[in-house]
Amino acid sequence: MKLYKKVLASIFLSASAVAFAEYPDKQITMVVPYAPAGSTDVMGRMLAQTMSKNLGQPVVVDNTGGAGGTIGAVRVVRAPADGYTILFHNMAQAASPALYSKLPYDPVIDFAPIGMVNDVPMVLVARKDFPANTLQGLIDFIKANPGKLNFANAGVGSTSNLCEVLMKSSLAANWTSISYKGTGPALNDLLAGQVDVICDQPASTLQHIKGGNLKALAVATRDRISSLPQTPTFSQSGMPGFQLTVWHGLYAPKGTPKTVIDRLVASLGTALKDPVLVQRFNEMDAMIVPPSSATPAYLGAFLKTDVERWKVAMKNAGIKPE
Ligand code: MLT
Repeated sequence: MKLYKKVLASIFLSASAVAFAEYPDKQITMVVPYAPAGSTDVMGRMLAQTMSKNLGQPVVVDNTGGAGGTIGAVRVVRAPADGYTILFHNMAQAASPALYSKLPYDPVIDFAPIGMVNDVPMVLVARKDFPANTLQGLIDFIKANPGKLNFANAGVGSTSNLCEVLMKSSLAANWTSISYKGTGPALNDLLAGQVDVICDQPASTLQHIKGGNLKALAVATRDRISSLPQTPTFSQSGMPGFQLTVWHGLYAPKGTPKTVIDRLVASLGTALKDPVLVQRFNEMDAMIVPPSSATPAYLGAFLKTDVERWKVAMKNAGIKPE
């Protein structure tokens, strides 16, 4: 009886190993939890296209925006754990537990991390006809016109919102927050003059800044960045010490077989060395992580620590989960 069970188990194991050895044998969906044309979408599409090349199957981006990235994350948590639905998400994955009291998943427990991807600066941009041309000018405007500024974001807990929340608490200021399903639609309204400012990444803002349709007021890095050399840092223009960069990671649902995760890790590692991807990420100051960080162990441990960091940061900013 014991031998019979052993034989059955080994048949089952080798059958599933064969099934996953074929992976991927069809299209993979990469969920981007924000609307098209935002930074996560722009970089997710580049990554998807590059991974397609080495996986031999299309990796197709599906934009599932809303609630600061949490709706897209839920979609992946509930997807079959077979490697055909993966999530490209930003730092909001770590901040959401601090902002949503009824989050229907635990970002640390309910995903199988694949690897970290990059680390990207934030840039504060204003509509082109906004009265202020500098961060100090914006601060003066806010103080002179309490509640009048319209500050756009990609939903509670999104990184554009985190930047806004941290600025608000540090300036002890008052303005109106306007949420979208991603910075793509928010930027459309900014370009149309419907809102005044947003804090986002060069991936989505650079073309509009270079085209003269948006004004870059400040970058949230320690030093100036190469894609916007004329733009001062927050520290240089009225908010000493204010810094915020955004990391991105790739995930599968919890329970995805190790053979599948290994294949995705290898694909991510190859993609992050692809000369076209490297050049395009460089152009938008998206710093690719070292190979040792593009791994499940690194992303899993980093996320865990970052969840705690954001709980403290939001508490210090006086923000309670909704
Ligand atoms: C986007 O892709 O829409 C933004 O990066 C979302 C965000 O603000 O985190």
